Amino acid sequence: MDLQTLTDTTAALVEQGRGILAIDESTPTCNKRFDALGIPTTEENRRTYRELLVSGEGLSDHIGGAILFDETIRQTTGDGEAFPDFMASRGIVPGIKVDTGAKPLAGHPGELVTEGLDGLRDRLDEYREMGARFAKWRAVITIGDETPTRACTEANAHALARYAALCQEAGIVPIVEPEVLMDGAHGIDRCHEVTATTLATVFEQLHTQDVRLEGIVLKPNMVISGLLHEDRAGPDEVAERTLACLRDCVPAAVGGIAFLSGGQDDVEATEHLDLMHRLDGDLPWPLTFSYGRALQRSALRIWQGRPDNVDDARNALLERARLNSLAARGRYHADAEQPV
Ligand code: 13P
Repeated sequence: MDLQTLTDTTAALVEQGRGILAIDESTPTCNKRFDALGIPTTEENRRTYRELLVSGEGLSDHIGGAILFDETIRQTTGDGEAFPDFMASRGIVPGIKVDTGAKPLAGHPGELVTEGLDGLRDRLDEYREMGARFAKWRAVITIGDETPTRACTEANAHALARYAALCQEAGIVPIVEPEVLMDGAHGIDRCHEVTATTLATVFEQLHTQDVRLEGIVLKPNMVISGLLHEDRAGPDEVAERTLACLRDCVPAAVGGIAFLSGGQDDVEATEHLDLMHRLDGDLPWPLTFSYGRALQRSALRIWQGRPDNVDDARNALLERARLNSLAARGRYHADAEQPV
């Protein structure tokens, strides 16, 4: 393993206020989002949409890398250039989602374990050949009355660590994503407790598998109330709790932390990140964003699958990325938001 290659990639992804653009929705998930807006769910539409997202002029000022799905990494832009080559030529590091999805965990109703380790070494080699320099694996932890169980937390942490070790062996930076879902009526205390246990278990497993922490990017959820909680915590509390939890559980050696948005709306996700930087200007790791929905939402709505709207949609994504890049340095102001 060449640690320098890994730390160079990590720096390109998350340093100087840059974040990561997650456009790695599986085909069924992407189709579901298109369907909701009446956009035809064709391969060509998925290709066109992903191209408009990565082709904004100056996007790399705010975005260090973008995570692709298997279909996209094999596609070409309208000008016939492979997506990874196109992105790399514009200063955006190509990444790839390599898990094969969260499946029911045997014996544990309502809980999921992420699969995809079988054959992963060969798939990583192929993706590296295509130009991928980082990868993503998402584990899902569900909060309920009886969950998460120890079985679920440990199975997912173990799989994340084995995935991360395989990535580093292949010279690919692993994004380690243990997502505690926002779904449910739980309060912020419960999210805090579950997130802390999840992170502690993940770092224990990463240590057991000899994963070099300088060569990973952690992609956690924020510590936040469940979406159905009756009295959801405000932005200051989310920022304070999240930072406290990360400081308790994430070793300073970690190359970077890039949050998922997990169902937060666009402005909320930007504001939370900004507040964290205003609270603490001396964090041990780069702290930034790796949003999917919170970066894409307005671009997708504006595009509508219509060629006439491509420029406006691209500009909407660029603007959202710019605001998040400001937030990643504690320099965002809500009055910069345009009324939608
Ligand atoms: P969201 O920001 O929409 O949660 O997506 C991030 C991601 O990559 C989920 O795996």
